Amino acid sequence: MNLVILEGHDYQFDIREMLMQYFPRKNIIFQGESREDTYDYETVITNGLSIRKDEYIFYTVIKKNQQLISKYEIQLPSPLPLTHNEVIKLVKRKLKITIYKAMEKAFNNSLPWGILTGIRPTKIVHQLLNMGKMKKEIIEYLESEYLLHHKKIDLLLKIALNERNIIYPGDKNKISIYIGIPFCPSRCIYCSFISSTIGEKRDLLEKYLQALHHEIVQIGKYINNHKLNVESIYIGGGTPTVLNAEELKHLLFTIKSNINVEGIIEYTLEAGRPDTIDREKLQIAYQYGINRISINPQSMNDDTLHLIGRNHSSEDILRAYNLACETGFQCMNMDLILGLPNESVNEVKNTLAKIKDLRPENLTIHTMAVKKGSRLKDKLQDVDLSKEEEINKMLEATEEFARLNGYQPYYLYRQKYMMGNLENVGYCTADNKGIYNIQMMAEKQTIIGLGAGSVTKVIYLEEDRLERVPNVKNVEQYIQRVDELVNKKIVMLNDLYET
Ligand SMILES: C[S@@+](CC[C@H](N)C(=O)[O-])C[C@H]1O[C@@H](n2cnc3c(N)ncnc32)[C@H](O)[C@@H]1O
Ligand code: SF4
Repeated sequence: MNLVILEGHDYQFDIREMLMQYFPRKNIIFQGESREDTYDYETVITNGLSIRKDEYIFYTVIKKNQQLISKYEIQLPSPLPLTHNEVIKLVKRKLKITIYKAMEKAFNNSLPWGILTGIRPTKIVHQLLNMGKMKKEIIEYLESEYLLHHKKIDLLLKIALNERNIIYPGDKNKISIYIGIPFCPSRCIYCSFISSTIGEKRDLLEKYLQALHHEIVQIGKYINNHKLNVESIYIGGGTPTVLNAEELKHLLFTIKSNINVEGIIEYTLEAGRPDTIDREKLQIAYQYGINRISINPQSMNDDTLHLIGRNHSSEDILRAYNLACETGFQCMNMDLILGLPNESVNEVKNTLAKIKDLRPENLTIHTMAVKKGSRLKDKLQDVDLSKEEEINKMLEATEEFARLNGYQPYYLYRQKYMMGNLENVGYCTADNKGIYNIQMMAEKQTIIGLGAGSVTKVIYLEEDRLERVPNVKNVEQYIQRVDELVNKKIVMLNDLYET
């Protein structure tokens, strides 16, 4: 157990986020949170700010068994020539830097992402580019203010430059749509997404689809009345292809007849699990204009697929992939996860070798996140998860694979509880960037979410802010409350489109 003492500030949330890069959340206790004398603290970390007349002093002191093992201090002249908000941001950054430096000295521990704990690191690069900063200045800033390693800076810059022509110039009338189908054929052990196993829940799925059709019709009217241009639609989940052919056709028909899909550039159907794909469904999807399909191996090792509860083999992936190509789809995505139970870099290399010749246009590389609510979290003692060093080797293997096979990174995000505190990266061939993925991460375009668990984000470009309107996650609640959820969304959209 580690005790944290804050002095001269109360940015507990930010300091906790930073410390979670080093210790599990449950091993961090802030002074005042609990009766300290009941624990035998391994380390005591004091993080503070003292403001004198002419200077700010930021510091972190680390003691182990009451012995000082490390200390780091930064002094800045006061007052700072900045706005109130800028001062807060800078103070938080400097406090985190002192933690990073003191931890590095104490435990010889260096984090590739430095003090960056946010989910969307490319946003910082876009802000700097928008301010007219040159590449060299951005590199220096990320190095000195966030302590990012060179490889991560390089990756961030490549991605930010790759996504800029999709994000800018912003246009308030251009939107994307997400439609969620929170049902799956079986539950994968690492997954914490809200999704029901279809099994005996077909009745529930039918009622869910009725509610979803209703939401599509109502929001479709709004989109058409306000002449909004839909740039991309993403049907995700869960596994949308758990719908049978008739249900899928009905869903795509409802979308087509209620939302103007003429100008759509990208229309994705997540067909993640090959055990839900057949020729008929693929043909229906193709006829209704779907032009990007996701078929996700996660791993091409059969033992792993069995262990993680995927209920399909690597052969099934090849069959489904080839069927999709035969149907005519020209943009395919494959999701992989690094750090799956009992996998080492050799298994990852085997997976990459098996998909090399398929050459999907998009490849999304996730780093395993052991999340609350997943079966894996409860089964940790039964499986062997890779250590940070091994995950890094896996990440390097995928980077090399991407480079040698003509893929470029086009989007990136980080998550909590990711192994090694690393990243998820989307790669693409040539110019096949996944538009929805970029827009969803950049948060510069309004995205309307339909279905249980989806989130609508209304973007106010001029004010550089956004409002989130989540639909309820629970399927039964969604079915009961769909009218209320539609109204809530319309009120929020009106704030942008009717004022
Ligand atoms: C919401 S899932 C939907 C995709 C689809 N149902 C499937 O499993 O093929 C999107 C992707 O997130 C990734 N993912 C899900 N849980 C994860 C976890 N705990 N850690 C890392 N990646 C995860 C998987 O690669 C998955 O394909
Ligand atoms: S990973 Fe995909 S298929 Fe597996 S449970 Fe999660 S959403 Fe369903």
